[in-house]
Amino acid sequence: MKRRASHTAGLRRAETWQPETCSPVGPAYRRLATIALLLALVVVSLGAYVRLSDAGLGCPDWPGCYGKLVGVPEQAHELAHAEARFGQSVEAPKAWKEMIHRYAAGTLGLCILALTAIAWRHRVRRRPWLELALLGVVTGQALLGMLTVTRLLKPVIVTSHLLGGMSTLALLALIVLREGRSPRPTAFPTGLKVLAILATASVLTQIALGGWVSSNYAATICADFPTCQGSFRPETDFHHAFTLDRELGNTASGELLPAAALTAIHWTHRLFAGVVLGIVGAFSLCLLRRHEGRRHGLALLATLALQISLGIANVLLQLPLPLAVAHNTGAALLLCAVLAATWKVLNGEKARHPYAMAGFPRRFQAIR
Ligand code: HEM
Repeated sequence: MKRRASHTAGLRRAETWQPETCSPVGPAYRRLATIALLLALVVVSLGAYVRLSDAGLGCPDWPGCYGKLVGVPEQAHELAHAEARFGQSVEAPKAWKEMIHRYAAGTLGLCILALTAIAWRHRVRRRPWLELALLGVVTGQALLGMLTVTRLLKPVIVTSHLLGGMSTLALLALIVLREGRSPRPTAFPTGLKVLAILATASVLTQIALGGWVSSNYAATICADFPTCQGSFRPETDFHHAFTLDRELGNTASGELLPAAALTAIHWTHRLFAGVVLGIVGAFSLCLLRRHEGRRHGLALLATLALQISLGIANVLLQLPLPLAVAHNTGAALLLCAVLAATWKVLNGEKARHPYAMAGFPRRFQAIR
């Protein structure tokens, strides 16, 4: 009788569901994760700005700039010393851009270190897998940042650095989502879950392809839209285009990279945008048709439309700096939107724990 009463109470609790925070660490942790996520967005956009304004080699060394950890050489004696030591003239504006990016990335690194340390202290209540992965990615990012400077902008290193930045952003977004309020209990159909995973995978692939366009300077090889060089079947060389280990502008054997290879790189990114449009568009429309997915569907559709428009505008206007940076930020926002929607769809089921746990003592309900 008593068990039946507690079972009924459990069901009633599920019906009058109230959002609750999932964090066993506390709201301050979620705030720190949110700050780190916003900072990661700034660092990713700043990184694009530095690279696109040709300031990626503004400092020839790492982690300092012409040997200085704070600021860049500006006084006459500092300039003379830096030029004698590094054998090149100092371009202070470029050096400042690079250093501001490094300071922002360093601050983000400290936030991530704090998040990992706090999560580690609470590891008994929840294993800090996401935080440890984040720490690994950020350490790899610092090394890639150094290699970008010392290996003189090799495309595979620049693209990996971009992907590392996006992975940092994605892991932080997942932490913020995990620490947030548990989603309203909803059972989403399996088909929608598969679509969610495909949508996330397609956005990640498109980001990698975009990084390859950018790091190979293939943006302006097709200046028309929807055609490329006046044709829907431009001359392409996929073999050289997707050979990863080569220097910028060269084939693996050191010859000049043919224009057809640049066309293949650009054209692939464009064609795959059609795939992203199909999958993410379908996912957004499915979400829009469900009351509990409407907000996510709208956000996803808006960021997708914005990103595709920015891509087309970049082609037609020949890559003006603000639009090129906006296309990078748009990719980051699209990634966050698709992750949030996927999280919602994949975790709706888990939030049904009041039903599953109904009747269990409260101390067991706290365990996840
Ligand atoms: C569907 C969603 C899209 C995503 C997620 C995406 C993502 C990206 C990313 C991450 C980059 C690298 C940016 C950087 O390194 O700073 C990029 C570059 C580029 N994308 Fe897209 N893109 C999309 C659609 C498009 C479309 C539809 C077009 C054109 C029709 C386009 C044209 C370009 C161009 C020209 C670049 C090179 C820009 C540069 O050199 O900085 N993109 N894209």
